[in-house]
Amino acid sequence: MKILAYSVRPYETDAIKNWSELHGVQVDVFDGELTAENAKHAEGYDGVSVQQVADIKDEAIYTTLKGFGINQISSRTAGVDMFDLDIATKNGIKVTNVPRYSPNAIAEFSITLGLMLLRQVPKALNKATIERDFRWHPGIIGREVRSLTVGVVGTGFIGFTAAQLWKGFGAKVIAYDMYPKTGVEDVLTYCDTPADLFKQADIVTLHLPLTAESKHIVNAESLKLMKKDAILINTGRGGLVDTEALIAALENGEIAAAGLDVLDDEMAYMNKIVDEDVIAKAHLSKLEKMENVISTYHLAFFTTTAVGNMVEISFDNIRNEILGEGVVNYCN
Ligand SMILES: NC(=O)c1ccc[n+]([C@@H]2O[C@H](COP(=O)([O-])OP(=O)(O)OC[C@H]3O[C@@H](n4cnc5c(N)ncnc54)[C@H](O)[C@@H]3O)[C@@H](O)[C@H]2O)c1
Repeated sequence: MKILAYSVRPYETDAIKNWSELHGVQVDVFDGELTAENAKHAEGYDGVSVQQVADIKDEAIYTTLKGFGINQISSRTAGVDMFDLDIATKNGIKVTNVPRYSPNAIAEFSITLGLMLLRQVPKALNKATIERDFRWHPGIIGREVRSLTVGVVGTGFIGFTAAQLWKGFGAKVIAYDMYPKTGVEDVLTYCDTPADLFKQADIVTLHLPLTAESKHIVNAESLKLMKKDAILINTGRGGLVDTEALIAALENGEIAAAGLDVLDDEMAYMNKIVDEDVIAKAHLSKLEKMENVISTYHLAFFTTTAVGNMVEISFDNIRNEILGEGVVNYCN
């Protein structure tokens, strides 16, 4: 068995080598993305793995792979919106993904953002590094988790892990989900509506997918419901938050702070080196100047465990499909 891995990033190479040695399967690495032109490199391979944001929608990609006897494209990501699944199906190509690689990676990062903002770390560091002011200023005094209520919106794999972690720190945890879990009373209490949660929570943390219903669940109206000293954490998707409304709420003191791992316009710079003018046009340009905001660039998933799982599960999907054994995460 021979696998060709497209768009391999430097941080993936150790995990690829480990999987290849463990299973005795040859995995060759190709730096470029899977395009109609690059599909030709898959000749002689039994399967291909990809990890890319760029579209895989050109029908020529699917016909070329099929011509080489390849029946599957295995993505090392959860999202498969870069594919055209209808064209894939029409050409007899199965697309597979890694639906879940490490809820803890994202949950822990959301807590990291929350703790840093509770202790006003960005502000305190600015005072020290820019102003050389090392005093215990009232403006940088922190709050302790055990005195707070954390509101988790979306209690799936990531949200429930976050809820358990916050509970471990001693917070009271409340939650909202369209489909509440049962038997979790020892960790959290559900609110009937998002508005109930927004009103009560000291920290609002978003862990739901972006859908037509959830788009801008945090907007000018919901921000007004939140406490003046509330902290908003978003490691879900940028579109969950109306960013213009959030910037206004932060500027007007309607809420205290925000930790944002995702932004609606992040594609312009995510996982790239960009010129300053790209950032000047992005929401980040305003947010990164605010001392009460931490804006990271879709880093929450980025742990050795998660990257290892993305590689392993993607290659397992290929191996299991070819051998007709084990779990294969089909998307079409
Ligand atoms: N920042 C990152 O690096 C990163 C990485 C992976 C996932 N994510 C985001 O985290 C989200 C959650 O992932 P997960 O694995 O926990 O998903 P999940 O499917 O296990 O959980 C999602 C939860 O949200 C609930 N939900 C869906 N729509 C809702 C709505 N309109 N209102 C209230 N609740 C709603 C669902 O019932 C479910 O319980 C993903 O959708 C993705 O957007 C971010």
